[in-house]
Parts: sequence; C-alpha cells; structure tokens
Amino acid sequence: MNTTTYLCGHKIDNPIIPASGTFGFGQEYREMYDLNILGAISIKGTTREARFGNLTPRIAECKAGMLNAVGLQNPGVEAVVGHELPELAKIYRKPIIANVCGFSLEEYVEVARRMCETDNVGWIELNVSCPNVKHGGMSFGTDAGCAAEVTSAVKAVCSKPVIVKLSPNVTDIVAIAQACQEAGADGLCLINTLLGMRLDLQKRRPILANITGGFSGDAVFPVALRMVYQVAKVCRIPIVGCGGISTARDVVEMMMAGASAVEVGTANLINPYACRDIIEDLPNVMQRLRIDNLTDIIGAAL
Ligand SMILES: Cc1cc2nc3c(=O)[nH]c(=O)nc-3n(C[C@H](O)[C@H](O)[C@H](O)COP(=O)(O)O)c2cc1C
Repeated sequence: MNTTTYLCGHKIDNPIIPASGTFGFGQEYREMYDLNILGAISIKGTTREARFGNLTPRIAECKAGMLNAVGLQNPGVEAVVGHELPELAKIYRKPIIANVCGFSLEEYVEVARRMCETDNVGWIELNVSCPNVKHGGMSFGTDAGCAAEVTSAVKAVCSKPVIVKLSPNVTDIVAIAQACQEAGADGLCLINTLLGMRLDLQKRRPILANITGGFSGDAVFPVALRMVYQVAKVCRIPIVGCGGISTARDVVEMMMAGASAVEVGTANLINPYACRDIIEDLPNVMQRLRIDNLTDIIGAAL
C-alpha cells in the first residue's frame, strides 16, 4: 500500500498534516508519538510581532465541533525562526509548513520572507483569513482582488512554494481560488473556520469574549469537501483539503474530491493521537477499497 503523495513538488510519505493552530509548534505532541510519521506539520499562524491573542473565554464547545476565537496568539516571527523552528528541527527531520498571518500586505510579505529564509521551512501557507486593517478589517480572503494582491506580493519574495489557505466565509470560493492561482499561488488549502457564535443562556450574552469565533470539527466536513470539489474542477494547482477530517475514510473522500493532501485540525484537540491513528488506519482503508497508490484517487470523483 503506497501512501506517498506530492505537495507542490515535495514528496511526502503520507497525506496527513496537523492543521495550523491545533498542533502548536509540535512540542506538546512529541510525548505522544514520533512526529516523523507525519506527512508534514503546519505550525501555528505567525505574525510579525508577538500577540497575546483575544480575551477569554475564547473556546466554546458545540454539537459536532467547536468555536475558537484565539486571536492568533503567537510569539512573533523572530521567536519562531530563532527558537521554535530550531527546537522542532531537533525532533522532526522533515520540512514544515509555515502558516503566515498579517494585518497588512507589508506584514505578510515580511513574515513570509523571514520564514522562507529558514532551512526547515518547506512551504509557506498564507492564512488570508486575517483582517485587512487598511480595508476596515475585512478579511483579505473574502475579496478576490485582496487575496490575489497578497499572493503575488508574497510570491515576489519567496523562492519556496506558497499555498494560499482560503476562508470559507465567501459567496464564491471558486472565484477567490482562481484569483490566487492567477496571482501565482503554487497550491491552495481549503478551508479555514466558518464564522459562528454561541450564547450563554444564564448571562444572555455571547459565550466568546470576542462575540464570534471560527467553527471547526466534524460538522464542517461536507462544507469543506464541497469547496475542495468545486475548486478542483477548475484549478490546476494542488489542493490541501482541511475541515472536519478525523478518520482515514475522510482522507480518502477528501482526496477523491481533488485534494493532494489533507490537514487534520480539531480532531487533534479531541484525541491527541488522531493523526497517528489515521496514518495507521489508512493502509487498511486503502486495502478495503482496493487502492494501491493513494495518488491514483486524487480527483477520482471529478
Ligand atoms: C484553536 C484553533 C486555532 C487555529 N489557528 C489557526 C491559525 O493560526 N492559522 C490558520 O490558518 N488556521 C487556524 N485554525 C484553523 C484550522 O487550521 C483549520 O483550518 C480549521 O480548524 C478546519 O479544520 P478542522 O475542522 O479539522 O479543525 C485554527 C483552528 C483552531 C480550532
């Protein structure tokens, strides 16, 4: 059973990648299992300066998923490049995916350039769900023009593949994906969290201090799958499927819809062994479905 796949020219042992923000910088999971079994790791979204994140409560549980409004808490790019990545390199021998965030075009470019200069970074993942301060806080990823502009600005300073991670909170995900592809994106990741909220019935107020948060977990899988399928129909660059993946069966379904690899997020927070369990079960599912090479099924449903 061959689980090898390719992500923007890099061969990876299997398609399983922990999703940004659910795996920190790998240190919390090193006690659980050998991280080298993973296809790759997407590290916590990084900004230019350190960020404390939003006020608490910033997590709310939901049926079949969760809401988070962590607010991009991270130690800032210099601490990531100078400390977190060298520490991760001591226990993890493969290239990592650097998830890059910014509140302006200039910030994205600066963070991406620093990440790109770092040896163990294999890919840049542009999180375009961040608010664009110059455009009244509207997310870069909800406007095709803004998404394309940030993609081409980052491509101009990066020699490594740039994967644009799209927001699902849009009317037409295909138009945004195409704009990013035309702007030079080497790959796409779909999807980030869906905007949601919950109320505290005693207080008659929102549970999250931020009022709204990003919804993720099992319940979003059909939405993510639909978006991957629609984008794969028209785009030629590789897609990383993400959203509600928690089993090897989900991985196969996402790849049949057009994904070349997958990211597993919320499942890690429910079961810290989720990625290991999926990697171990994948050959069994492949055998049952008579799949010899995983790459054979990419886009099989299209
Ligand atoms: C607590 C938490 C923090 C997250 N932080 C980031 C982040 O820093 N950058 C990013 O691109 N996505 C972030 N995400 C989104 C996930 O990477 C993923 O796209 C989303 O949760 C959907 O996948 P899932 O349903 O498997 O969790 C975060 C998600 C959660 C739950």
